[in-house]
Amino acid sequence: MKLLTIETTCDETAAAVVTDRLEVLSSVVASQDRLHERFGGVVPEIASRAHLERILPVIDEALRRAGIGLADLDAVAVATTPGLAGSLLVGLMAAKTIALVQRIPLVAVNHLQAHIYACRIASGQEVFPCVGLIVSGGHTALYRCLSPVDFQMLGSTIDDAAGEAFDKVASMLGLGYPGGPAVQRAAAIGNPQAYCFPRPFLDDPDRLDFSFSGLKTAVRYQIVGPGKQDFRTVHLEPQQVADLAASFQEAVVDCLVGKSLQALERTGFGTLCVGGGVAANSRLRQRFLEEATERGFRLFLAPLALATDNAVMGAIAIERLKAGLVEPLDIEVAPGPLRA
Ligand code: KG4
Ligand code: ZN
Repeated sequence: MKLLTIETTCDETAAAVVTDRLEVLSSVVASQDRLHERFGGVVPEIASRAHLERILPVIDEALRRAGIGLADLDAVAVATTPGLAGSLLVGLMAAKTIALVQRIPLVAVNHLQAHIYACRIASGQEVFPCVGLIVSGGHTALYRCLSPVDFQMLGSTIDDAAGEAFDKVASMLGLGYPGGPAVQRAAAIGNPQAYCFPRPFLDDPDRLDFSFSGLKTAVRYQIVGPGKQDFRTVHLEPQQVADLAASFQEAVVDCLVGKSLQALERTGFGTLCVGGGVAANSRLRQRFLEEATERGFRLFLAPLALATDNAVMGAIAIERLKAGLVEPLDIEVAPGPLRA
């Protein structure tokens, strides 16, 4: 059985062809990073227009690389939640049209659940039940993942996502966009103990939430002085930039690792899956690997190509199809995060 998956939740236009045995026949990702770079973040209107231009060529290319045509598809899947409304609509309309014309089932994918499922596809191993940490530009949350179709939220950020904090701090430090990789590079020669930044809720195992907004402000005040906003007059030495980047990154990593360990404790699960763009962070990966070795839990980190947005992780739709979870053609997008 062959499934086309479509992903347009944010600023990547992606399509993939996967089989019901989780073989990846093709994967195409058209990034919009260069369009959003000069704004220091994703501009929703620009994103949806770019999706419109790219969606058909990206789908065509995914089919071509898989060596099949539309008529060979058995189902079509699309991420319908959460994401930017205009961006989600482009993917959903394309998927609905294919479902209608080819008379094949339409499957809705929750983008956050798909980020966790990236670990399942990449490892080729059964990962459920597990604790799932999703850490991306728009979301930071912990889930009790009982099965591929049964996710319960354990906690989430009460303000910004970790990736958003990376992007904003990169911009404050003049490091460019997207911020995560830039901060990581700068941090490589920095001292993570140079500045003491906040780690909210870390001491409270009863609360599996995150908060990164105060951390962003703490970095800002460290650069410009308490209560001030203006960066134009501030000059930072390269070593200061590196130390700020390293200290900020360490604070984020401490929170993500600490809360994940508390979630493992609470659920009693012995498996942790980590997905989302920030899962590409090398310091985060190193810390998780150390903890897994020391504490003996099974760790699945989404590989770099499947950590950032892609359509392969939409293969979670296979599990939904098997469970009979298909959608009517009048299904709508749900931009806000689902408390799935
Ligand atoms: O999952 P993703 O591709 O898109 C969303 O669904 O948000 O995540 C993008 C986020 C961006 O904020 C980017 O700065 C961050 O992932 N990111 C990283 C790294 N690579 C990407 N953050 C930290 N370290 C990285 N190496
Ligand atoms: Zn994502």
